[in-house]
Amino acid sequence: MNRAAHDFRELYGYGPEGVWAAPGRVNLIGEHTDYNDGFALPFALPQRTEVAAARRTDGTLRLHSADVPSGPVTLDLSALDPAHPPQGADGWAAYPAGVAWALLDAGLPVSGADLHVRSDVPTGAGLSSSAALEVATTLALTDLYGLPLTRPELAALARRAENAYVGVPCGVMDQMASACATDGHALHLDTRSLDQRHIPFDCAAAGLRLLVIDTRVKHDLADGAYARRRASCHEAAAALGLPALRDLPYDGLEQALARLDDPVRRRRVRHVVTENERVVRIEELLRAGRLRETGPLLSEGHASLRDDYEVSCPELDLAVATADAAGAYGSRMTGGGFGGSALSLIDADAEPEVVRAVTRAFREAGHPPPRITPAAPSGGAARLV
Ligand code: GLA
Repeated sequence: MNRAAHDFRELYGYGPEGVWAAPGRVNLIGEHTDYNDGFALPFALPQRTEVAAARRTDGTLRLHSADVPSGPVTLDLSALDPAHPPQGADGWAAYPAGVAWALLDAGLPVSGADLHVRSDVPTGAGLSSSAALEVATTLALTDLYGLPLTRPELAALARRAENAYVGVPCGVMDQMASACATDGHALHLDTRSLDQRHIPFDCAAAGLRLLVIDTRVKHDLADGAYARRRASCHEAAAALGLPALRDLPYDGLEQALARLDDPVRRRRVRHVVTENERVVRIEELLRAGRLRETGPLLSEGHASLRDDYEVSCPELDLAVATADAAGAYGSRMTGGGFGGSALSLIDADAEPEVVRAVTRAFREAGHPPPRITPAAPSGGAARLV
C-alpha cells in the first residue's frame, strides 16, 4: 500500500480518496527571467511530494505532514484570510492552506478536505519543495472536486497561493515545472504566454550525468533580496518604455544599456537579456543532440548570476569553480540563489572525481559537507492512487 495512504488511514481513521504527487525541479537555464516574462528551461526531479486526501462537507480543512510529529492542524475554510492567517496556517501549513484559499478566491467550490503530506524533496535547497507541495495540493483538490483546470491554470493558481497567501513574490517557473514536466525532457517555458515545449534531454544516453550539489546554505526568498531584484527589473523596463525586459532583444542590449544611468540597474538588465539568449541557445543545442556544448553556456550563466545579478554566495561559487576545474562541461547555481543548489554537467564516469573534488574543497574551506546527487529529468504532477 502507498505509504501516504497508509499513514492517512492511521491518522484520520478512514482511507483517503486518492494520493497525488508533484515533483521538485532543477532549472537547467533561464534564472530570474520568469518575472520578466522571459524564458526558462527547467526539468522535474524524481523527488516528489505526495498528498493523500479526502473531501469533507463541513467547511473544515485538516492538514498533516509526516515531518511534523504533532496531530493535524484544523482550519475553518471561511477564516482563511491572507491579511490575517488563522493560527496554525503558518509554516508548512501556509502552502496547502494558501491553495484552498486561492481556489475559493477564484470562485471554485471546495467544501473542505483532510490531507496528509509526505515528501522527499529537500527543503531550502533551491529545488522547489514549496512548488511541489502547492502543486500536489492543487491537483488533489481540483481532482477531488472535479474542477476542470488545465495544467498551466493549475500552476498559475498554485503560484497565486504562494504570492498572495504565503507572501513570497516568486514567478511561475517552479509551479509550471512541477505541474507540466515530462519524463526524459526539459520544459521550455515562455513565462508570458505559458506556452511550453518538451525538449528531449537524455543525459544517460549521451554518457553524461547531471549532478545536483546542495550547498546546504539555506536560502529564503522572502527575505527581500529577491523582491529587490524583481523591483529593479520592473523599474528598468519602465525606464526603457518596455512592458517587460523580455521585450528587449539581445541585439538591442548595448543601446539600451547606454540609456540607463544606474550601474546596478544596467547589470541586472544585462543578466536578464543575456540569460534569455542562453535559454534560446541551449534549447537549440539540446534539439541538435549537442548536449556537451551546453556546458560553457551553463558556466557563463553562473558568472552572470554571480557578477551581474549578485545572487550567488561563496559556497555556490566554490561548488561551480571546483566542479568545472575537475572536468565538468559546465556548472551553475540553480533556482533563486543566495544558497541552495548548483548543477553540474559531467561525463558519467567523472562522477567520483567531481564528487571527491567538491567535497574536499568544501572541507578545506571549512564549509559543512555538500549533498551531491545525480538528477534525471522526471515526470510532472500525477495522481498515484
Ligand atoms: C525562485 C522562484 C522562481 C524563479 C527563480 C529564479 O525559484 O520561485 O519563480 O524566479 O527563483 O529563476
